[in-house]
Amino acid sequence: MTVDYSLTVDSFDERFVAALAQLGEAVFGAPKADLGWRLGHMPSASVVCASEAGRLVAFKAGYAVGRSRYYSWLGGVHPHFRRRGIAAELMRRQHAWLRERGFETVETATNQGNLPMIRANLEHGFMVCGLRHKSGRMQVLFSKDLG
Ligand SMILES: CC(C)(COP(=O)(O)OP(=O)(O)OC[C@H]1O[C@@H](n2cnc3c(N)ncnc32)[C@H](O)[C@@H]1OP(=O)(O)O)[C@@H](O)C(=O)NCCC(=O)NCCS
Repeated sequence: MTVDYSLTVDSFDERFVAALAQLGEAVFGAPKADLGWRLGHMPSASVVCASEAGRLVAFKAGYAVGRSRYYSWLGGVHPHFRRRGIAAELMRRQHAWLRERGFETVETATNQGNLPMIRANLEHGFMVCGLRHKSGRMQVLFSKDLG
C-alpha cells in the first residue's frame, strides 16, 4: 500500500492531537504528557505525518527555538511500519519545509542508546554537537546546517 505524507503547521485540532497521542503511545509505550501543550504553545510548531490507508503510522514534530533555529523534538514510526524508509522521508520533508520557512539550523537530541535514531540523524546530515543529562538519561545533541 502507498504511504501518504502530510504537513500540519500551527493549528492542531483535538482529533489530530488525539491520533498523535495514540500513535505516540504505541511507539514509546507511554503517553507523552505535554504533546498537546507543546503543539499549542511553541512557535512554528509543525508535524510531518505518514499515513497508510488513512491510518496515521508515523510522525515527526518540532518547533522553533529561535528566529533561525528549529528543534525537531519528537518522532516515531509504528513498530509494524519500520525499516521502510518512512523516518528518512519524514526527515527530508521536515528539512525541506524548514528551508522554505527560512530556518538555518535544525537541532535534535537522541537518547544515547537509540542507535536507529542516531544512525538516521547522521545519515541525514546532522553532526554531534554535545551531550546532556536529561531525566536521568544521557542524550546526544545534534545540529544540522540547512544551508
Ligand atoms: C528510529 C525510528 C524513527 C526509525 O524509523 P524507520 O522508519 O524504521 O527508519 P528508516 O527505515 O527510515 O531508516 C532510516 C535510517 O535509520 C537507521 N535505522 C533505522 N532502523 C534501524 C535499526 N533497527 N537498526 C539500525 N539502524 C536503523 C538506518 O540508518 C536507516 O537507514 P538505512 O535503511 O539506509 O540503513 C523508529 O525505529 C522508531 O520509531 N523508533 C522508536 C521511537 C524513537 O526512537 N524515536 C526517536 C526519538 S524521539
